[in-house]
Amino acid sequence: MKKINIAIDGPAAAGKSTIAKKVAAALNMVYVDTGAMYRAITLAYLKSDDKDFSTLLEQIDIRLVADHGQRVLLSGEDITERIRENDITENVSFVASQAAVRSYLVELQQQLTRDKGVVMDGRDIGTTVIPDAELKIYMIASVEERAQRRQLDNESRGIDSTVEQLKADIAHRDHLDMTREISPLTQAADAIEIDTTGRSIEEVTAIILKLASDKLE
Ligand code: CDP
Ligand code: CDP
Repeated sequence: MKKINIAIDGPAAAGKSTIAKKVAAALNMVYVDTGAMYRAITLAYLKSDDKDFSTLLEQIDIRLVADHGQRVLLSGEDITERIRENDITENVSFVASQAAVRSYLVELQQQLTRDKGVVMDGRDIGTTVIPDAELKIYMIASVEERAQRRQLDNESRGIDSTVEQLKADIAHRDHLDMTREISPLTQAADAIEIDTTGRSIEEVTAIILKLASDKLE
C-alpha cells in the first residue's frame, strides 16, 4: 500500500494533536507530537543549573513511546502529563526559538519521517521538517474558542487557569512562535487551511481523512 506523510501545523489549541491522533489511528499511521519534544527540552532546561543549550542537548535523553497517542520519557521518567503544566507552557516558546534546539529536534523528527507513514503535528512541519509531505494541513480556530477548549483541558488535568488569562497567553505564544527568527509558524504555500471554529473533532477528522484518501489512491 502507498505510504504518505501528513503534516499538521497551526497555532496553539487549534485541535492539531487531538485530530492528528485520530487520523493516525484511522489510517494505521504513526502519530508524532513535536510540541511535546519542545516541552520536554523545556523541562530539562528548567531543571538544569547549566543554562547552555548545547551542553544540555549533549546530555539529554528524550524518548517517545507510541501508546494510543504518545508518551514522553526524560531520562527514563514519564513526563507526559508534567509537560502540560503552566511553567512549561510559559517558557516553551523561548526554548523553541533557540537555534541549537531547533536543529537538534528537526533532525530527530526528519529521521522519524524518512520511511513515511507518519502524521506529525507542530509549527514548522510543512515548511521545514517535511517540506515534501504528501498532505499538509494548516489548522486554525478563533482565539476565543481555543482558550475555552484549553480551559476544559486544564480543568480535566487539575491545572489552574481562567479563559481570559488563557486568551492572553495563547495570543502571546502565537505571536512569539510567528515572529521568531528560525522557522516561525507560517502556512506552507501548499497547505490546506481548515478553520475548526464551531466544528467538532469528528467533522474535522472526516475532512482530513477524505483529503488523505485522495492522496493514498
Ligand atoms: O499544544 P499546544 O498548542 O499548547 O503547544 P504544543 O504543540 O505542545 O507546542 C508547544 C510550543 O512548542 C509551541 O508554542 C512552540 O513554541 C513550540 N513548537 C515549535 O516551535 N515547533 C514545533 N514543531 C512544535 C512546537
Ligand atoms: O494540538 P493543539 O494545541 O492544536 O490542540 P489540541 O490539544 O488537540 O486541542 C485542544 C482542545 O480542543 C482539546 O481538548 C480538544 O479535544 C478540543 N477540540 C475541540 O473541542 N474541537 C475541535 N474541533 C478540536 C479540538
